[in-house]
This record gives sequence, structure tokens and C-alpha cells, in this order.
Amino acid sequence: MGKVIVIDHPLIQHKLTFIRDKNTGSKGFREMVKEVSMLMGYEVTRDMALEDIEIETPICKTTSKVLTGKKLGIVPILRAGLGMVEGILELIPAAKVGHIGLYRDPETLQPVEYYCKLPSDVHERQLVVLDPMLATGGSAVAAINFLKERGATNIKFVCLIASKHGIEVLQKHHDDVDIYVAAIDDELNDHAYIVPGLGDAGDRLYGTK
Ligand code: PRP
Ligand code: URA
Repeated sequence: MGKVIVIDHPLIQHKLTFIRDKNTGSKGFREMVKEVSMLMGYEVTRDMALEDIEIETPICKTTSKVLTGKKLGIVPILRAGLGMVEGILELIPAAKVGHIGLYRDPETLQPVEYYCKLPSDVHERQLVVLDPMLATGGSAVAAINFLKERGATNIKFVCLIASKHGIEVLQKHHDDVDIYVAAIDDELNDHAYIVPGLGDAGDRLYGTK
């Protein structure tokens, strides 16, 4: 079973409060989503492989660690996942970025795919799927199905807020995927919005309604 890693560092909890607050406008919302994503990135990249290299300090020769450069790919789920990309790229600027376009049909609540562009070598990469919200789990399950159909085997899922139900659904369908989350909320409302949540992440990021 994949792990659920709750990253509840005080800085993240503090910023998440302002992300949740309906009085935070799009500019502040975007900035804080970026900052929280970057802070979460520390934990998401904790298991990156290192190797020793020889260097010389001003004092003496020594061996020291550097990243092995194992290939990483980040995959935001459009549109709201885009808000998390910059924060992660600040930590790992060499990562390739793939995009999967899905929206939740407001009637059926089922994810509908409208775009996909991925690095050609997804099967060789550690992939990090980004989406601020894991509500019913439908979008995350569909995106990860998509990646696996294209050969991906090594996938992490990162979101800001997950419902308990969404986590159960994602684990049921993809028990090999670790889930990184800043907060877990108890409930979904009748429209499958997370309660208390933060509202519609895409609309709040981009000022649409
Ligand atoms: C939101 C969110 C997730 C999805 C989560 O996207 O960004 O992708 O809903 O809900 P689920 O777990 O029930 O599938 P939305 O469909 O609103 O599209 P948008 O990002 O384009 O606004
Ligand atoms: N999508 C969102 O943007 N917010 C929710 O609460 C659920 C799905």
C-alpha cells in the first residue's frame, strides 16, 4: 500500500489558512500555492538518490554528495495543478514537465480528458503528479491511469487538500502511489467540494467563476 505523507510543517499550516480564506484574492492565492508547493517539495524529494564525488575545499580534498541526476518529471493536472508547478521547479529546475488536461463534468462529476502532452520517456522517470485538490479522487485516478497506460511505473501524487474519501479511492485504484498532502479534510458536500476545503482551486487561481 502506498504511504500517505501529511506535511504539516507550521509554515505550511500558516500559509494554508490564507489559501483557504475566501478573502484571499487570486494574486495572494497564487503566491501562497506556489510557496506551499515549494515547501512540500522538500519532503517529496527526500528520497532523491545521491552519489559521492571528489572535490577540493580551500582546506583539503574530500568526497561530498551530489544528486545522481535520476530523471524526474512533474505532471500538473490542468488547470489547477499549474499553480503548483513553479514552486516545484524552483527546487528541481531540470525536471521535465508534462501536462494532462482534465475537468470534472459538473453533472456527472466524472473527469473528462481534453489534453495530454508528456515527455517521451515517462517510463524511465520518477513522476510527480500535481493537483491542489483530491476530492472524489476521480481526476487523480484518471490521470494516473493515463500515465500508467503510457508506461509510467514510478509515480507520486502531491496535493494541498485531500478528502478522506479521495485518499481511499486513490489508494484503492493505485496502491503503489505515495500521496503527499498538506491537510486532510473530513467531508465532501453534495457538489463533491471538499469541506471546509478552499472552494474551486482553478477559479481561485485564475479569477474565473
Ligand atoms: C478540480 C481539481 C481536481 C479535481 C478534483 O479540477 O483541480 O483536478 O477538481 O476533484 P475530484 O477529485 O473529484 O476529481 P476541476 O475539474 O475543477 O478543473 P479545473 O482545474 O480546470 O478548474
Ligand atoms: N475541485 C476543487 O477545486 N475544489 C474542491 O473542493 C473539489 C474539487
